Amino acid sequence: MTSTISISIDGKTCECPMIIGSEGERALDISHLRAATGLITLDPGYGNTGSCQSAITYIDGEKGILRYRGIPIQEFVEHPNFVEVAWLLIFGRLPKKAELARFSVRLTDNAHLHEAMKHNFEGFPATAQPMAITSAMINTIGCFHSELFLPRDDPETEEAAARLISKIRTIAAFTYRKVRGLPYIYANPRLRYCANLLHMMFSMPYDEHVIDKEIEDAMNLIFILHADHEQNCSTSTVRMVGSSQANLFASCAAGVCALWGPRHGGANVAVLEMLERIHQGGLTAEKYIELAKRKDSDVRLMGFGHRVYKNYDPRARILQKTCEKVLKKLKIKDPLLDIARKLEELALNDSYFVERKLYPNVDFYSGIILRAVGIPTNMFTVMFVIGRLPGWIAHWKEQHDDPTTKIARPRQIYTGLVNQHYVPLDQR
Ligand code: CMC
Repeated sequence: MTSTISISIDGKTCECPMIIGSEGERALDISHLRAATGLITLDPGYGNTGSCQSAITYIDGEKGILRYRGIPIQEFVEHPNFVEVAWLLIFGRLPKKAELARFSVRLTDNAHLHEAMKHNFEGFPATAQPMAITSAMINTIGCFHSELFLPRDDPETEEAAARLISKIRTIAAFTYRKVRGLPYIYANPRLRYCANLLHMMFSMPYDEHVIDKEIEDAMNLIFILHADHEQNCSTSTVRMVGSSQANLFASCAAGVCALWGPRHGGANVAVLEMLERIHQGGLTAEKYIELAKRKDSDVRLMGFGHRVYKNYDPRARILQKTCEKVLKKLKIKDPLLDIARKLEELALNDSYFVERKLYPNVDFYSGIILRAVGIPTNMFTVMFVIGRLPGWIAHWKEQHDDPTTKIARPRQIYTGLVNQHYVPLDQR
C-alpha cells in the first residue's frame, strides 16, 4: 500500500504521508500542502477533516460501532459503572480493584463544593439557564484548585479528574435546587456516584430520597453512553481551547457551552419539547414528519440524524430498551414514549430519512428516561455534561501529554471587500 500520496498543483508537488489508524482507517496528512503548493483545503463543518490522532474512542458510523479504549459499549450494559468507565477513558485501561477503590474515595472526598460557592449560586436569577450556571461553576471550581490547572502527571490528573467529576454532580444538584428555591442537600459519603446525585437532587432535609438499584443502574448506563464520542463539537471545543494551553477547568467550561446547542447536547431538550408539542395536540406525528422534511421549514426531527452514524446509533438501541425497563419498573405509562415509537416507525419507513441515512441518535430516548426519574427537561443537557466530562478530560489529557501538540488555528478563504479606504466619520 502506498505510504505517500503526491499532490501536484501548478507544477508544485506535495508529498502527503498516508496515516493509517489501528482499525485501518486512512487519512492523508496535508499539513505541508500550503507550504509546498500555496493551497489550503476547505471543509466547512470539518466533515472530512481529522483534527488529531486519538486512542480513546473508535466509531464506525456505517456499521454502528462504538468502542471505548477498544471495548464495545454493549459490554458495559451488564455491569454499568460510570466511575470505572471514566477511569478507563482517562487512563487508557480498566482500573484494577485498588485503583478503582482509590478513585472512588477521591470522588467521595471531593463531593463538596467550597462553602463560598453557595454565594455564586445565589447570584443567579431563578430563571437562569442551568447550562449557563454549569459552565460558570466549572470555571469557579477551577479558581479554588488552580494548583491543578495543568496536571503534570497521572496522580495529579487523577486528582483533578476526581474533583471535576465529583463536583459536577454537586453543581448539577445545586443548580436544580437553586432554580426551584429548595435547600441544598449535601453529598452522602455512603452513597455511590449516581445514587448520590439523585440524593442531592431529590432528598429533603426531613425526607431521604429512596434510590432504587435499577434506576441507579439506568443512570450509570446513561452516563456511560454519553461518556465519549471522539471529535464531536464539544470535545473538539475542549481540545481547541486546551491547545492554547488553557487550563483543564476552562477547557471543560468551554465544552459545556458547545454542548448546549440543540444540534448537539441540547437535542435531548429539543426532543422532549417536540414530543410534548405533539402530545398537546398541536401536531400529529405524521404532520411533524412532513414538516421535518420540508426545506422551507427550520423544523428537524430532533434526536434523529448524526454526522458520523449512517446506521442506527448503538447508544439509542441500548437506551430504547433501558427506557422500557425504567418505565416498567416505575410503573409509568408515558404517552411520549408511544409518540417517540410512532415517529421512529414513520421515519424509518420514509424515503426522505432512509435515503439520508437518518436514524435515532442518543438523544431520542434518553429524555423519556430522565423524565421518568424526575429530572426536569431544562436539566437534561446538564446530565449530558456529567456523562461527557470524563471524555473531555481524557481528550484534554491526551492532547496535553502529546509534546507535538500545536495550537489549533484553522485557516480561511477570505471573501470580503478588497482595496477599501478609511473614510472619516463626517464624510460617510
Ligand atoms: N430531520 C430532518 N432532516 C434532517 C435531520 C433531521 N433530524 N438531520 C439531517 N437532516 C437532513 C438535512 O436537512 C440534510 O438534507 P439535504 O441533504 O436534503 O440538505 C441531510 O439530512 C444531511 O444533514 P446535515 O445537516 O448536512 O447533516 P450533519 O451531519 O451536518 O448534521 C446533525 C448532523 C446531528 C446536526 C443533524 O442530523 C441534526 O440536526 N439532527 C437533529 C439534532 C440532533 O438530534 N442532534 C443530536 C446529535 S447526537 C448527540 C450529540 O452529538 O450531541
